[in-house]
Order: sequence, then C-alpha cells, then structure tokens
Amino acid sequence: MAKFLIKGGRALEGEIKINGSKNAALPVLASSILFSALGGPASGWKNIIEIENLPNIEDTKRMKELLDKLDADGKIDYEIAKKFRASILPVGGALARFGKVSFPHPGGCVIGERPIDVFLDGWKAMGAKTKLSENVPTDYVITAPEGLFGVDYTFKIPSVTGTEALIMTAVLARGTTILRNAVLEPEIKYLADFLNANGAKIAGAGTTTIKIEGRSGELLKYSARFTAPPDRIEAGSFAILGALLGKNLRIKNFVAEELPTFLALLSNVGAEYIIENKDLIFINSYKKTLRASNVITKEFPGFPTDLQAPFTVLLTQADGQSLVHETVFEGRLNYIQDLNKMGSRITLCDPHRAIIYGPAKLFGRTMESPDIRAGLAFIIAALIAEGESTIENIYQIDRGYENIDYRLCSIGADIKRV
Ligand code: UD1
Repeated sequence: MAKFLIKGGRALEGEIKINGSKNAALPVLASSILFSALGGPASGWKNIIEIENLPNIEDTKRMKELLDKLDADGKIDYEIAKKFRASILPVGGALARFGKVSFPHPGGCVIGERPIDVFLDGWKAMGAKTKLSENVPTDYVITAPEGLFGVDYTFKIPSVTGTEALIMTAVLARGTTILRNAVLEPEIKYLADFLNANGAKIAGAGTTTIKIEGRSGELLKYSARFTAPPDRIEAGSFAILGALLGKNLRIKNFVAEELPTFLALLSNVGAEYIIENKDLIFINSYKKTLRASNVITKEFPGFPTDLQAPFTVLLTQADGQSLVHETVFEGRLNYIQDLNKMGSRITLCDPHRAIIYGPAKLFGRTMESPDIRAGLAFIIAALIAEGESTIENIYQIDRGYENIDYRLCSIGADIKRV
C-alpha cells in the first residue's frame, strides 16, 4: 500500500495551479445518463459528453467505471458504489430512464451517519416505489412503474448531492418539479448551466427554489461541453498552506467569490494575502504568528465543512484559544486524536465541537488518512511539523486531489510516495 513520507519545516515558494473541481465534475459525469446516444442505441449514454479540465483522481475514475458497467437493467455495481458517496448521483437518472434501479447504500468518507433518506423521500414523492432488496438488506431496489412525475418538494435538510440528484431525476420526469430549500453551493449552478446548455429547462439554480421542466422521458442531446471549474476545496487548502508556509507563493485559478467566509476567517486569523485577478498571493507568511479565531461550518456561503480539518491544523499555530464547531457532519472531528499525538493541544468537547489551544509545536509521526479532507489536513500538519511523518492509506487522499505529492513538491515541499 502506497504511503507518503513527508519532511516538515520547508517554506513553499513559486506557483501552484488549482485543478478541476471534484464536486463539480462528479454530478456532470453522472448526468451523462440523461443523454441520448450519439453512436446509435448500442452506445447508450456512455462516453458521449465531453468534460474539459476533468480532475484525474480516484473518484472520477470510479464514477466512469460505474457508468461503464451500468446497463438498462439499472443495476449499479456494488463494489464500486461502496467506494464513494457520489455513487448515488446516477441513481435518479437511471431510475427515470430505465424505470428501475438497484444500488447499495453508498460508501465514501466515514464522517458521520450519512443516510440517504432525503433522496429516497424525493424519488417516492415523484412516484417511485422503494424497497430493500431481499438478498442484501442494505441494497435498495427502486421502481417507477407509472413513470416519474414532477412534484413540489421541500428538502427537510439541505443536501448538496440530494439537490443534484433530484434535479437530474426531474429533467426526465413528466411535468414541472419545484425543489424548495435547495442548497446554494456553486456546484448546483454548474450542473444546471451544463444541462441547460444541452436542452434542459432548469431555473433558479443558485437560489433556494429551483424549477425544472420535465421532458417526459425525452433524453437530452449532447451539444455543449462542460469545463470543470477550479476546485474550491483544493483552493482553500492551498491558501491554508500559503498562510502557514508561503514565501512568494502564487496560487493560480483562485475563485475568491466561491470562498467568501473562508477568506474572511483567513483574514481574521491575521493571514496576509493579495488577490490579483485569479491569483492568491502570499508574500511572506512563513511561520508568521497567527491569531486564534472561532469557526462554524455551514452550507454555502458559510464556512465549508470540507475545509474544517485543514483550518483546524492552521489554528494549532494561532496564538490563543479557538473553537471549531462542525455543524454539517457528526463524525468529522475524529482526526483530532492524531493531531494531538503530533503535539497539538485540542480538547474534543463533544462530536461537534473542539477547542484548540495554540500555538503548539508539531512533531512528525505516522498517521493513517481517515478520509479525503482529513488526509489533506494531515499533509498540512506534516509540512509544518518538525521531523518526518508517514501518512498511510493515501488512496483516500488520491480520491480527491490529483498528484498532490508531485504538485506540492514543485513549490518546495518534501514528499515521497513509496
Ligand atoms: C457533498 C460533498 C462533500 C461535502 C458535503 C457538504 C460531493 C460529491 N460531496 O456531500 O464534499 O462535504 O456536500 O458540503 O459534492 N443528510 C441526511 N440525509 C440525506 C442526505 C444528507 O441526513 O439523505 C445529511 C448528511 O448526513 C449531512 C448533511 O445532510 O449531515 C449534509 O450532507 P450533504 O449536503 O448531503 O453532503 P453530500 O452531498 O454527501
């Protein structure tokens, strides 16, 4: 099993570019199921949409494998679906297209319970019948004997992939769907704009009420490609590295409008940066003293939960007492025990809240990456620590960040993949 050996303490200098967004690319890949074949019926929906700037990461590879294996029987591959949560994204399209779909409870990052009730409620409201498989009790079988129809549906909790999945389902349903209490994450608008450019009629994406005119089963015809935007979570993670270790570090393709609360917090802790067009620049932040600050994770435009672990690492270097309040997931502070073994002083108050006492000197050690985002947080911790760290289970990191070792080495980090 591959692992990273990381030597800490080096300044980061030069230029690093933010690659294509995982969370924008995955729903667009999944939406290919809504399209008619270019090469005749046999080619189905497979490989017919073009995506520029697609990140070459494990999760996009899994999504392509999942779609390649999916046929008109609507069976989502069990093994692949267990590897990532976004495997639920093609389910609604498959249901609308084939009238039936079966799939396991999706896998992915272990950061809380992660139920799928919101998806199931939505499909049921649109006329689907859901049951657990008799053979494997964690598998779902959903059918739509009368087809799916448009509904006025209110999400009981805001869900990113839930909103995306129901938009895609509604595109092929009969009649108009209204989704209320939809999330505002930029990925929703990217998906809707792509589908609209290819013939769908989706209004209101980027607001809490989205209206979709269903096509009664008529498939979309591909005409306009998707260009994946820069990954805003990678952007925020690189900015944290810049605030801790940057010396004339230029982060390219930084879309500041997609990280408003994050940037406000970064200023609040005393990080100094310049925004020049689409570049974020740190002139001399190397080992500069930072100030403690409180962080509450929230849906967009709030502070993204996906940047909570990397930001907690930054707060270990801030002077004073910080509170991190994770409101989105209930199991997303588990990585803290490993950080404390590196020398941080963090008290876990309950599954949602942690108090960080800083600044603390960190020392290299061996850790196992628990999930995508905490894995990157461990890389950041290792880069600021004294001595050498080993990070195991780096498949989790490769799921979300393309060639991260190679790219960070290009700005001066010392990371070996062995
Ligand atoms: C997406 C992102 C992930 C990010 C998260 C929150 C993708 C591929 N993943 O995940 O990187 O961390 O948004 O910004 O875009 N919930 C339920 N029932 C459901 C669905 C969700 O209770 O049916 C709960 C979840 O357990 C969680 C909360 O709702 O507590 C928000 O989760 P959600 O927005 O659905 O996250 P994902 O879409 O899985």
